[in-house]
Amino acid sequence: MADVKLNDVRKSFGNVDIIKGVSLDIQDGEFVVFVGPSGCGKSTLLRMISGLEDITSGQLQIGGQLMNAVDPSKRGVAMVFQSYALYPHMTVRENMGFALRFAGVAKEVVAAKVDAAAKILGLEALMERKPKALSGGQRQRVAIGRAIVRDPKVFLFDEPLSNLDAELRVHMRIEIARLHRELGTTTIYVTHDQVEAMTLADKIVVLRAGLVEQVGAPLELYDNPANTFVAGFIGSPRMNFFNGRVKDNDGTHCQVELADFGGAAVTIPLKGTMPEEGKEVSLGIRPEHFHDDGDGLLNLKLDMLEHLGGETFAYARSQSGAMVVIETKHGRDLAIGQQYEARFRTQCALLFDKAGARIY
Ligand SMILES: Nc1ncnc2c1ncn2[C@@H]1O[C@H](COP(=O)(O)OP(=O)(O)OP(=O)(O)O)[C@@H](O)[C@H]1O
Ligand SMILES: [Mg+2]
Repeated sequence: MADVKLNDVRKSFGNVDIIKGVSLDIQDGEFVVFVGPSGCGKSTLLRMISGLEDITSGQLQIGGQLMNAVDPSKRGVAMVFQSYALYPHMTVRENMGFALRFAGVAKEVVAAKVDAAAKILGLEALMERKPKALSGGQRQRVAIGRAIVRDPKVFLFDEPLSNLDAELRVHMRIEIARLHRELGTTTIYVTHDQVEAMTLADKIVVLRAGLVEQVGAPLELYDNPANTFVAGFIGSPRMNFFNGRVKDNDGTHCQVELADFGGAAVTIPLKGTMPEEGKEVSLGIRPEHFHDDGDGLLNLKLDMLEHLGGETFAYARSQSGAMVVIETKHGRDLAIGQQYEARFRTQCALLFDKAGARIY
């Protein structure tokens, strides 16, 4: 086991800067998830930790040891990819043991480690099959098994579940959580999937364009996003944002006139420094923060309804045409085209300045 430290790590391909100075402290045994839009550098950063990409500048330490110049095979990391990358001509057993045999580990030791991993992953009955005779989920389990037998200090996963169908993803997500609980190995996991990030992570790292936007526990990022980017990225459906202007404040509450609602005012409680009168702001309300008991009111017209059974996502528009997503339990009573008075909990609403930074 080991901690992982990145200090101002950068990566350029030619003269294009891709990773622009990332510093991170990942504790021994922690499960850290990298999220961010496509192309922001998640895989590149993971590959730099694994040694598959070299580091242009900055320091990478694993278990207190500087790793920049250390060969990938000597870093004590094992990586699992989206494309399982199994050898088609080898059986499951051979695939799982290959790296160890290649490294000259004794046959009996390899067999014992492969058997132990097979047991953890429930692969015992499939050991003599070739990959083409396995389902996607089974193949991914073999790929994980191949990583486990190496007894890595750090697991690196790059979107390991994105080739699987929805049901299998849920199943494998739970397996990975259990695996981490059992083995306690430091894990860095890249995903596009909100639910995977929220449920698996001890700590989420939100990346944008090669930089860290915010690091924190899942609910910390959800409750207290530092800016509109993180607020919009964490949570699904995403947070609604409305343009407004500060009309007044009394030291604990800030009154905001909403341009998208013909200047209608809402009053938002704040804890920190009050924004001055006239300041342009953005009001953020999550779809799930609309409730009948809410003390804020928005007048809307319903555009579309998505009934999911237990709850409904109502898509509505403001006077100006701004789109609003509302999560409601009363979707069955609503009709497309109707006027809708949407109540929201002002204590849950967040305020941001024009540049996107959070006003607390
Ligand atoms: N070998 C390379 N040469 C040049 N540019 C590269 C190379 N590898 C990656 N890039 C660029 O670096 C950026 C980050 O790529 P990366 O694969 O890390 O993104 P990502 O966050 O993993 O995206 P995705 O979510 O789509 O997997 C992209 O703009 C990509 O085009
Ligand atoms: Mg990627």
